[in-house]
Amino acid sequence: MSDFRDEAEEHLLSSQHGAKIEVRDLTKVSDKGLMILNKVNVDIPRGVVMGVMGPSGSGKSTLLRALNRMWEPAPGCVFLDGVDICELDVLSLRRKVGMLFQLPVLFQGSVADNIRYGPQLNGKKLSEEEVCKLLALADLDSSFSSTSVGELSIGQAQRVALARTLANDPDVLLLDEPTSALDPISTQNIEDVLARLKKDFGMTIVMVSHSVKQIQRIADMVCLVVNGEIVEILGVQRLSEAKHPTARAFLHLNT
Ligand SMILES: Nc1ncnc2c1ncn2[C@@H]1O[C@H](COP(=O)(O)OP(=O)(O)O)[C@@H](O)[C@H]1O
Ligand SMILES: [Mg+2]
Repeated sequence: MSDFRDEAEEHLLSSQHGAKIEVRDLTKVSDKGLMILNKVNVDIPRGVVMGVMGPSGSGKSTLLRALNRMWEPAPGCVFLDGVDICELDVLSLRRKVGMLFQLPVLFQGSVADNIRYGPQLNGKKLSEEEVCKLLALADLDSSFSSTSVGELSIGQAQRVALARTLANDPDVLLLDEPTSALDPISTQNIEDVLARLKKDFGMTIVMVSHSVKQIQRIADMVCLVVNGEIVEILGVQRLSEAKHPTARAFLHLNT
């Protein structure tokens, strides 16, 4: 084997073994000059569930939204598979890095219409069978396909929103408090789906949650955000070892 590898090949090789997402000195200042994110650094390994926790207003949603360019981070701050996301076509990036919010985002029409929407933008028409497969992935019976979205419970609608995101064949999911408006059973349904996506597809998942119990159920790692900074990154079993006083208070640990 040659001892000489060019730099691009070297970078590609290291990204295949390295993090799925790398965040480097990511900073956001508001229009009024307030620091929203202050030099955030984190590596999110592929195939893990990374929990993001911290007080309200600490910058969790802003951090998540940088990862698929819901706002434009500076070049050189966010890398997906070793590639600067600023260099990617933004629509392809958002297909690869799907996102769910606290409240499901669906448009009027049938469940199938919603699920077909993303692939259709890409010139692909999903068959009924493909729609049903996506529904099954999101733990919904195929009979939902023709249901009007207005008839869904919020828990069902959130699973349709998940199926709709999965239709784009993402390899990362960004979840911003996806179950905080749901009842315990719908929450469990979503958690079960996420666990399966991780196990069967090696999905990388970044999830903001206010529930320590939820994070302990499904996350592998946790980053704690306080005042626009990541103050700790811990394995989920080591949450009790968090040192930052605000992070400890947030986690209801004795300070
Ligand atoms: N586009 C924006 N312009 C100005 N301020 C913003 C903007 N987005 C978020 N903020 C502010 O940044 C801080 C962090 O917000 P956010 O990321 O939503 O926090 P979290 O999700 O942790 O509750 C808050 O003080 C919020 O008011
Ligand atoms: Mg938020």
